[in-house]
Amino acid sequence: MTTPKILIFSGSIRAMSHNTRLAGFATKVLSQMDCEVTRISLADYDLPIYNGDLEDQKGVPRAARQLAKLFHQHHALLIASPEYNGSITPLLINTLDWVSRVSSDKKGPISPYKGKFAAMIAASPGMMGGVSSLAQLRPILSRLGMLVISEQVTIGGAAGAFDEMENLKDERSRNVMDNLCKSLVEKAAVFNLR
Ligand SMILES: Cc1cc2nc3c(=O)[nH]c(=O)nc-3n(C[C@H](O)[C@H](O)[C@H](O)COP(=O)(O)O)c2cc1C
Repeated sequence: MTTPKILIFSGSIRAMSHNTRLAGFATKVLSQMDCEVTRISLADYDLPIYNGDLEDQKGVPRAARQLAKLFHQHHALLIASPEYNGSITPLLINTLDWVSRVSSDKKGPISPYKGKFAAMIAASPGMMGGVSSLAQLRPILSRLGMLVISEQVTIGGAAGAFDEMENLKDERSRNVMDNLCKSLVEKAAVFNLR
């Protein structure tokens, strides 16, 4: 059986982003499991705000094509999604939208989303830990054809949630993250057999 490949990124490119820190912790947890983890930053995939005229005139930007290929090459995505006004960030939706415009490259069809597994995590300085962001993200990912696992992680009071090693301080939160990662790896492995 081939090892499942999991791609992880944060919907924030802010230097001290809590979601990027949470993605970092998830990467550590996954790296203890039987999978290959690739962590990227959306800062390396700069994209203009989606505009159909721009796409008509110039095509899909290179960064979106690169990301689509990367999604295609993995069996699952793990997304750390910050909450802005009860929803997901403009950076995240813009990225998901641009990537959804890619269906092929020179080598053949590209399937960035369809039939792949997704897991969602969130961190917020607020009490609710970004749960509304995940409630918005779930149907978007489903609409894109992804199989979003039921487990999710939300970390409230994010400013004080990590220790000096960038691990989550709270044992229950660590366990919830562990369960999410295990579930994602198991499902991605099954996907890999298809
Ligand atoms: C425009 C805007 C709207 C926000 N709305 C919410 C919100 O609805 N709920 C919440 O918990 N936090 C909200 N926040 C606070 C963010 O969760 C906080 O800035 C968080 O640190 C962003 O994620 P990051 O640290 O990964 O960049 C909002 C922040 C901004 C800038």
